[in-house]
Amino acid sequence: MPQPHLRTVVVLAAGEGKRMKSALPKVLHPLLGRTLLGHVLTAAAPLAADRTVVVVGHGAEQVRAHLTEIAPEATAVLQAEQLGTGHAVRIALDAVPEVSGTVVVINGDVPLLRAETVAALVEAHEGEGAAATVLAAEVPDPTGLGRIVRDADGRLEQIVEERDASPAQRALREINAGIYAFDVARLRDALGKLSTDNDQGEEYLTDVFGLLVSAGEPVGVHVAADHVETLGCNDRVELAGLRRLLRDRVNAAWMRTGVSILDPETTWIDVTATVERDAVIDQNTQLRGTTVVGAQAVVGPDVTLIDTVVGAAATVLRSHAVSAEVGPGASVGPYAYLRPAAKLAEKAKIGTFVEVKNSEVGAGAKVPHLSYVGDATIGAKANIGAATIFVNYDGVNKHRTTVGEAAFIGCDTSLIAPVEVGPGAYVAAGSAISQDVPAGALGVTRAPQRSIEGWVARKRPGTASAAAAERAQSASADTPAAREGEAIHGGAETVGGPSSAGDTATE
Ligand code: UD1
Ligand code: MG
Repeated sequence: MPQPHLRTVVVLAAGEGKRMKSALPKVLHPLLGRTLLGHVLTAAAPLAADRTVVVVGHGAEQVRAHLTEIAPEATAVLQAEQLGTGHAVRIALDAVPEVSGTVVVINGDVPLLRAETVAALVEAHEGEGAAATVLAAEVPDPTGLGRIVRDADGRLEQIVEERDASPAQRALREINAGIYAFDVARLRDALGKLSTDNDQGEEYLTDVFGLLVSAGEPVGVHVAADHVETLGCNDRVELAGLRRLLRDRVNAAWMRTGVSILDPETTWIDVTATVERDAVIDQNTQLRGTTVVGAQAVVGPDVTLIDTVVGAAATVLRSHAVSAEVGPGASVGPYAYLRPAAKLAEKAKIGTFVEVKNSEVGAGAKVPHLSYVGDATIGAKANIGAATIFVNYDGVNKHRTTVGEAAFIGCDTSLIAPVEVGPGAYVAAGSAISQDVPAGALGVTRAPQRSIEGWVARKRPGTASAAAAERAQSASADTPAAREGEAIHGGAETVGGPSSAGDTATE
């Protein structure tokens, strides 16, 4: 009794990928948000397989650890020695003796494969009641690949590896993509009959087709509409080529949903990221991981966003963000660095050379220039002057700072945590604040200023500064103000006032 709804997926991922020349197993190389293996498993996911088996070998521990993260339901089966693709599938099926129905086998290194194509292959296979169906493609350059050999009536005769092929067979441009659907029972039977009588002395999965044909079993060929989907990856040059192809596919899909991508060749959007309608993505921009860019937001040029959410109509310019949230209408950059748990509320502004970490920046609050904001809560409409440092680390522990709603922090201020600046409070420029500033108060810690008259003439004689001072002094020597001047100016009352803080803060 055929049981078409029982499905098993087997992914072959034990090979070394020698030509990658990499400490990382080939199938773990990343490609726009997923590993090669992750892409293959994603393409197979809609099959809703009852069992998924991944054959691991080279770098088995790393591949197993990755599987635990991305596909905990999958079973990893160890192929200690890589004796061929047929051997690998045999070991996989030995681990799941109970399965029946259809088994889909996918080489681990075909990351551009789309779920629709796998589904169409399985549908054709099950619809025709075939013993085995191979995904084939017409390619411009078949070098190194197995060829589909058909008889005079166009029926599959066998699949021949290039190294075992005759010159006439090598001229064929229809290749085996390395993706197959099989009836499990007939596959098991054929796998038991594989020989190693070939150039590599391996058990070839592809030989199953010739064996089934000889036994009079029905086998099929399903031709992929787009051969690009079947491209494998053997070295890093090919990997870069696949990355460009996937980039173009992803960008085209977003543009068709109403996203403007101004320079698609320099825009790299992970397959796991989302961009909403009428967003504009400018040159040299990377949207990585689980990043979401909201409707009408403008991102770029020169922006990298990793696992970051950008709200509607926000702007992010020449900046880097990791695990951050940018509220609707907020603005970031140029040259800002948002670190994990930086959360900007609606219309907040983070400006130039500003770093924000683990902090909430309230609605409409501004941190426009040259500041570090760490472990802080900044209230709505607060204004943080240039070169404000939230001093969050005492060498052992991190502490929080709270700045109240509409508070005003003058430039070049240290807020030494734990500390709180109350709502509507001001802090004078140049202060080091280590005690709470009550709501509406002015916090100031500056030492009184002194101006020591004639210091340059006495201590730096003969310098350009001394000459400039002397010219200025002789030019103003006759003014009444100069004649009444004191030798030393300054006092606490001249530096602490709110107007002083305001004058020296920036907007
Ligand atoms: C294979 C096919 C070839 C097809 C090509 C498509 C065979 C004999 N040939 O060739 O017809 O055109 O894929 O890319 O199958 N693997 C194991 N264990 C092994 C050997 C391989 O897990 O013992 C895995 C590899 O990690 C890889 C996949 O199987 O993911 C394919 O193996 P590879 O050596 O790349 O086969 P090809 O020579 O490319
Ligand atoms: Mg290969």
